Amino acid sequence: MVYEATASAPVNIAVIKYWGKRDTKLILPTNSSLSVTLDQDHLRSTTTSRADASFTKDRLWLNGKEEVIKEGGRLHTCIKELRAWRAEEEAKHPNLPKIAALKLHIASYNNFPTAAGLASSASGLAALVASLAALYELPQSRSDLSRIARQGSGSACRSLFGGFVAWREGHAKDGTDSLAEEVAPREHWPELQALICVVSDAKKGTSSTAGMQATVETSPLLQERLRVVPKRMLDISRAIEARDFDEFARITMADSNQFHAVCLDTTPPIFYLNDVSRAIIALVQELNRASEAAGNGLLAAYTFDAGPNAVIYAPAANMPAVIAAVDKYFPQANAFANPFQVEKAPLPAGFDESVVHGGWEKGAVKQLIHTQVGDGPRRLDDAESLLNAEGIPK
Ligand code: DP6
Repeated sequence: MVYEATASAPVNIAVIKYWGKRDTKLILPTNSSLSVTLDQDHLRSTTTSRADASFTKDRLWLNGKEEVIKEGGRLHTCIKELRAWRAEEEAKHPNLPKIAALKLHIASYNNFPTAAGLASSASGLAALVASLAALYELPQSRSDLSRIARQGSGSACRSLFGGFVAWREGHAKDGTDSLAEEVAPREHWPELQALICVVSDAKKGTSSTAGMQATVETSPLLQERLRVVPKRMLDISRAIEARDFDEFARITMADSNQFHAVCLDTTPPIFYLNDVSRAIIALVQELNRASEAAGNGLLAAYTFDAGPNAVIYAPAANMPAVIAAVDKYFPQANAFANPFQVEKAPLPAGFDESVVHGGWEKGAVKQLIHTQVGDGPRRLDDAESLLNAEGIPK
């Protein structure tokens, strides 16, 4: 009997950013956050977990390379908690096979290049938790599982759900009420799409973990942010409920800007945006200005995480204009896969070319990834296993 399960989990990109911990060990945030889950057909992490009596220790491989599972580290905590739940189930139901005590081999694989600079920790940790929960046949809910994923990487808790997801900060000292919840499923607003602009960045920036801690310790502006986020959470949830893209876009851009402002307000200052990022902001700004001046709504919303890549959210109907504009000003190094077969569209009437910084060399934006709102973790067939008969990555 092989005890094994394979699961995949999605990437999520926050529109209300998580930036700051009140408890660094339990990973409890200083504010609630909200994200959109992206489609696993385009971006996903897949993880296989196997428990076997022949294994002599827990081992984990990430994209084929073995990683150390550090005692007391984040991975260790996630595995330990899920194993403890399985042990409880085995104690309650004596007929269950005793697999909690067996050592594990875990292999995880991202279908997007790590070099793309996209956060892989959220989807990776969520896939790990989903695969172990499947292997152990745990009865816990997705919100319960999100509490475990949270301790692997804060933003990972939001990848346990599809659609639109809130991470409630919670108030309990032990973190029991700091978990993810679905705000709306993907089916509620399937027209919402995302264009990821992968921006070249040679130097390695400050990690989220270190950066947010520095902000908590030194930024006076963070206190103002913590005052405004609760209303933003309510307002953007209402905008999602009403499928009101204008309101959704305004809040998304304001929150990205404020997140990067608290980074700048940190001592020493943290810069995640670069000149290309700022030129993309100017482009989206001008697309929106021209669209509004023509009596229409906003076309698109940008948001940036802890790096220079832009994620542009827009309804499917606006994407041809957005893609044409990005393509015109930022010729990419890699060919555009164009999964939705978008046809080229003209820039909106009244678009002022003089306000957008042109003349970027080819490859300033390396690659465009066009995707859409997606579903939560999926249990995959045994045929998708990442481990061979010996329990080593294939
Ligand atoms: C800017 O979840 O990577 O992407 O909890 O320390 O692992 P740790 O941090 P992480 O931080 C993500 C920060 C962000 C905003 C967000 O996703 O909400």
